[in-house]
Amino acid sequence: MGDTTTQRLFPDDEGIGRAAEILGRGGIVAFPTETVYGLGANARDGVAVAKIYQAKGRPAFNPLIVHLPTLAAVARLCIMNDTARQLAQAFWPGPLTLVLPLKADAEISRLVTAGLDTLAVRIPDGAVAQALLRAVNAPIAAPSANPSGRISATTADHVLAGLEGRIDAVLDAGPCEVGIESTIVDCTVTPPALLRAGGLPLEALSACLGGDLIGASEDPIAPKSPGQLTSHYAPRGTLRLNVKLAEADEVMLGFAEIEGDLTLSASGDLTEAAASLFERLHQLDARGAKRIAVAPIPRHGLGLAINDRLERAAADR
Ligand code: TXA
Ligand code: MG
Repeated sequence: MGDTTTQRLFPDDEGIGRAAEILGRGGIVAFPTETVYGLGANARDGVAVAKIYQAKGRPAFNPLIVHLPTLAAVARLCIMNDTARQLAQAFWPGPLTLVLPLKADAEISRLVTAGLDTLAVRIPDGAVAQALLRAVNAPIAAPSANPSGRISATTADHVLAGLEGRIDAVLDAGPCEVGIESTIVDCTVTPPALLRAGGLPLEALSACLGGDLIGASEDPIAPKSPGQLTSHYAPRGTLRLNVKLAEADEVMLGFAEIEGDLTLSASGDLTEAAASLFERLHQLDARGAKRIAVAPIPRHGLGLAINDRLERAAADR
């Protein structure tokens, strides 16, 4: 495939040290966060960041999220207003990304922001991500660790299935706990705007902000986030959504009382469904499913993000 040997590292002191060293000298390393595996590079090193775009086959206009270990590190790069502070206090570390004004002296590669004067930042939860970010001591730009347009990776095996030979290493710490990408909120507008539903439920955000959030209605989320291309997260087969009874040639992905060949959650638990979503899509790919039917998923809590990902996976390509 590629021309690099990809090392599989384990999250002990040695593995984390090795991953930090590779990042420090301009390499690219996939690492686990609580949401999905990210493909990291030093955000100050344009050549390193370019390797991410190349490995993923990602359109260059699509900006990246920068991962940092502490609020102090975020505040060195971005301007925090009251809303940002409130959300950071309530939800970091955790599955929330904030879009904030970039400071003039932040020295972040323009490839990370795709030329915007804002920066998407997040403090991920999870001991391994935290240990790695502290060990590198540099802001780490990281999109999800999958080829552009394909299913996100929630295990190191998913990462290798898509990117083996194209990245320097993957830090293998088992499956991600949340399993779906972070919720993205733009704090540069008033009221703040939801750019992507994700691992932090909308209800939690609204409760924290006392209601106001643009784009949090029934309306489709405005594609202000340049990465919100319609077709995304796609398995190789085609998807039909909100199906109660599969046709003869379809493989059924069930939920709750709707049994399938596979299920997102037999007990109808949305947290479990989010955590298993990308694993199930990878499994459908692995069994060569050509036509996939998916049971209805309720549109509340994490169900909003699950439906968003399924709709993108089902979109015309
Ligand atoms: O959970 C996550 O968010 C994972 C883990 C690795 O942290 N990362 C992730 O990154 O999902 P990615 O690149 O797949 O999605 C980042 C999204 C894209 O839709 C991108 O357009 C948007 O964030 N984004 C990045 N910077 C932005 C900015 N300055 N303004 C608006 N949207 C931005
Ligand atoms: Mg992605």
